[in-house]
Amino acid sequence: MRGKIQEKSHCYKVFIKTYGCQMNVYDSQRIVDSLLEEGYSPVQRIGEADLVLLNTCHIREKASEKFYSDLGRLRILRESKNSFILGVTGCTAQAEGEEILHRAPVVDFVIGPQTYHRLPRILKELKKGGKVVDIDYAIENKFDYLPLPNKERVNSRGVSAFLTVQEGCDKFCTFCVVPYTRGTEVSRSVEEIIREAEKLISFGVREITLLGQNVNAWHGKGANGCDWSLGKLLFRLAELRGLKRLRYTTSHPCNMDDLLIAAHRDLPMLMPYLHLPIQAGSDRILKLMNRRHSVRDYLLLIERIRRARSDLAFSGDFIVGFPGETDLDFKETLKLVEDVFYASAYSFKYSSRVGTPGSSMIDQVDEDKKDERLQCLQMRLNEQKRQFLESKRGLLTDVLIEKVGRHKGQMIGRSPWLAPVVVETEAAIGTVINVLIQKASTNSFFGAEEIL
Ligand code: SAH
Ligand code: SF4
Ligand code: F3S
Repeated sequence: MRGKIQEKSHCYKVFIKTYGCQMNVYDSQRIVDSLLEEGYSPVQRIGEADLVLLNTCHIREKASEKFYSDLGRLRILRESKNSFILGVTGCTAQAEGEEILHRAPVVDFVIGPQTYHRLPRILKELKKGGKVVDIDYAIENKFDYLPLPNKERVNSRGVSAFLTVQEGCDKFCTFCVVPYTRGTEVSRSVEEIIREAEKLISFGVREITLLGQNVNAWHGKGANGCDWSLGKLLFRLAELRGLKRLRYTTSHPCNMDDLLIAAHRDLPMLMPYLHLPIQAGSDRILKLMNRRHSVRDYLLLIERIRRARSDLAFSGDFIVGFPGETDLDFKETLKLVEDVFYASAYSFKYSSRVGTPGSSMIDQVDEDKKDERLQCLQMRLNEQKRQFLESKRGLLTDVLIEKVGRHKGQMIGRSPWLAPVVVETEAAIGTVINVLIQKASTNSFFGAEEIL
């Protein structure tokens, strides 16, 4: 295998599978881009690859199980086709490190989310034989070592792009592995972010979604040394010519400051859709989760944001069956859902994660109970989503055209509230058009272009 890599020059193929959140999607893009200079081009089929990367997620047990079952399949593939290097990156890599090599000797190297810029060097090391594990919290800033986005790669991903501005988390919610897998909160500098945004825009990107595990905890310094928060950064990014839309995710309710709310009021290009997870609707459970705010704080915050921008829709995350959650606590979650009215939301059964305080709490909730609560919550959230989409029928709205649709003349665009819109138009990809929403299905809209 190694011989094959050494013989060929500048024609290697890399296949990457991404698990987990948008930050992992962004990391996978950066990893692939960093390998272009090493002569690797990305492929969609694993069978063609010289290098296979699994960019893992550790958030719930299911995510890790999926990764290990994929490793089992890869072991069989490698036995029949002994010709690829196999690497594990991402959050499970960070959490389990060397343990992965013990459980799955088929793996050649393991690198964490803070050290993937060292991948080219690691690939060279591997040629000498042996295995590599690199899960340091690197002192150097990986972004200083990664190449800026490449035109062809950016174009292949469409007109909407992710841009990580903040990484890690200092909040330590008692259920969550992120502070351990991604380390402490780090913000990228204003200059670095602007440079990357300008590059993306110059390649045709029209919508940028700023990413962070706690994106609204982002902070930086302006040119004159004054402190900037995410709101200020959004105002600055809104000045970039050619950019049409801005979004950011995921926010913590404790970090929604006045300027960020003002950005929603004053920047039409900041889309009126906000992912603002609360996790549970009972103050007792929020306290046990170490969420650092009450249900009342959250509802007041929602009210303030809605006052700033009345058409803003909310999405959220919920965990059911956190240790100690009673039927009464769960009822309070259902009540909160009614009070907020979510356009969309993700809900999960609590998954006990080794090393988090939640895993050693007494009163773990039965799986059956979790199933029952999840089903009940999801039914309500699905109904709200349906009502939300339906409420947009008859509305004239702006749509960013993203790709060609399935039928002739049809294009698929993005509504301000993320749901896709199918529309007949001759408008080019990357343009924003006015569309009258005529119909809503489970996840998307159908509309007609309005030429004003
Ligand atoms: N930083 C974000 C969330 C990151 S994790 C925030 O603070 O909201 C994404 C979601 O996964 C969380 O919002 C939570 O709903 C869910 N999650 C995290 N740990 C979990 C666990 N142990 N079990 C079940 N769901 C979990
Ligand atoms: Fe996890 Fe809480 Fe940090 Fe979000 S804020 S990443 S849920 S610890
Ligand atoms: Fe998963 Fe890591 Fe994201 S644990 S959710 S990939 S930050």
